[in-house]
Amino acid sequence: MDSTASPDAGIRIESFLGEGEERSLAQDALDGLTRSFKELPPKHFYDSRGAELFERICELPEYYPTRAERSILDEFATELVELTGAEELVELGAGAATKTRVLLDALHATGAPVRYVPMDVTESMVRECASELTRVYPGLQVHGVIGDFERHLEYLPRSHGKRLVVFLGGTIGNFAPKPRRAFLAKIAELLAPGDHLLMGVDLVKDPDVLRAAYDDAQGVTAEFNRNLLHVLNRELNANFEPSDFEHVAMFDPEREWIEMRLRSRRAHTVTVEALGLGVHFGAGEEMRTEISAKFTPKRLQDDLAVSGLDLVRWLTDPENRFALTLSRRSGA
Ligand code: SAH
Ligand code: AVI
Repeated sequence: MDSTASPDAGIRIESFLGEGEERSLAQDALDGLTRSFKELPPKHFYDSRGAELFERICELPEYYPTRAERSILDEFATELVELTGAEELVELGAGAATKTRVLLDALHATGAPVRYVPMDVTESMVRECASELTRVYPGLQVHGVIGDFERHLEYLPRSHGKRLVVFLGGTIGNFAPKPRRAFLAKIAELLAPGDHLLMGVDLVKDPDVLRAAYDDAQGVTAEFNRNLLHVLNRELNANFEPSDFEHVAMFDPEREWIEMRLRSRRAHTVTVEALGLGVHFGAGEEMRTEISAKFTPKRLQDDLAVSGLDLVRWLTDPENRFALTLSRRSGA
């Protein structure tokens, strides 16, 4: 663990990545590229270029989730702050924390001192968002955590005030169902009586709307998808030629999730030098790079219930595209 108290007032940053993170990519690549159906986890999209591409996705006309979630926050942030009495905001996968500002505005308006704890795998995002937010909100304490929320949740700092864990963007949908429930159960353990989880979930809707959101006309999502190959080339000395792979976004109507895949345009073998691995791709072979599950109220309720969480509020945008859910630990 590497800890730096920044010269900027109010900022502290801790990192749990570095060596360990490289190992995680190597392990995930070894595991995922040697299967008969190749697959890599989506967290490896987000180097600094991937994070920038994601920010561009959020601005695309087809990608409605960011705007929908923001509109819910605009309408309900004050009420949520009153209802939760939050004194500490812990945000998982915070990214640029753009929408979080709506909550921070509402918290700031109460005049009470607040601590913000953003956690993300992307170091540049944690550092930039810490400097930017302490500039915008004088007096805000930021304790940034550069880490993997699947491996480092127990290292999150804990203050004495009421905690609001925030998990926005629909990122919970990027987990497969079983790990999703296991992860929610781990989040539940972060909550003491009086603490809450505020989580965004994307909702089931017209498959054409979903497909367009994940296959935009400008090709930004395609570039984001292929960024994974740039990460593998740089971090593991691989020789993927990104233009050899076509972006695929398909909706699985049974599981009600979007899958992003990369489809090899030709039969060829890629070398991943750091792993001493030759990886053969057949012509048209697809590798899964992300699932993005869409929710119904029942799916969400079931997931929360088995994970030890009780739903307190279900808030949606006027077009019912996205939901912001507030829950607390069962029995708390
Ligand atoms: N919360 C923001 C960003 C969502 S994008 C929003 O709503 O717009 C998903 C974010 O989660 C990215 O910033 C990515 O770097 C981060 N992320 C993905 N997997 C992660 C992991 N395993 N641990 C920590 N952060 C992760
Ligand atoms: C971060 N996550 C919720 C996004 C999603 O919609 O699943 C990532 C993304 N993938 C393609 N576009 C955006």
